[in-house]
Amino acid sequence: MISSVIVLSNMEKEKKKNRYSRIHEQLKEVLEKSDNLTARMASISAVLHHKFDYFFWTGFYLYTDGDLIVGPYQGPLACMELERNKGVCWAGFNEQNTIVVPDVEEFPGHIACDSRSRSEIVVPLKNKNGEIIGVLDVDSQDLNAFDDVDAEELEKIVKMIF
Ligand code: SME
Repeated sequence: MISSVIVLSNMEKEKKKNRYSRIHEQLKEVLEKSDNLTARMASISAVLHHKFDYFFWTGFYLYTDGDLIVGPYQGPLACMELERNKGVCWAGFNEQNTIVVPDVEEFPGHIACDSRSRSEIVVPLKNKNGEIIGVLDVDSQDLNAFDDVDAEELEKIVKMIF
């Protein structure tokens, strides 16, 4: 019984990886059409948001004059500015690491822009010189929605912006 659960979970992961690789191909074509960073981020958030039904909020927070300010996104209305050095986005930004949060209520200082979000992933966004300029943030209404596949694949996708 236990092994069949593990096999199913590996199959699900494989399916998810395949879906990400199709998205990667689609984005390559889409992003050929403009070098504009806002247009590229907007297109990435739209494609991701509509391909995964567990993505409830999908978008960017960009570092501007010392603050993290909301950028292009898809989903319900979100906080425009995040209180400095608090919550998941700031943690990902300050640590310059991807952060997977299985249950937002367990994350100290989590900022709830929408109380329906239950789990979250934050991926740092770096420019060509390797300088951090913001984060990609995805929220889900499901607990424990994100795993190492999302982390690895979203890291690849944010690199496509530059
Ligand atoms: N939960 C985030 C804030 C942004 S919203 O999820 C869109 C955080 O704790 O930084």
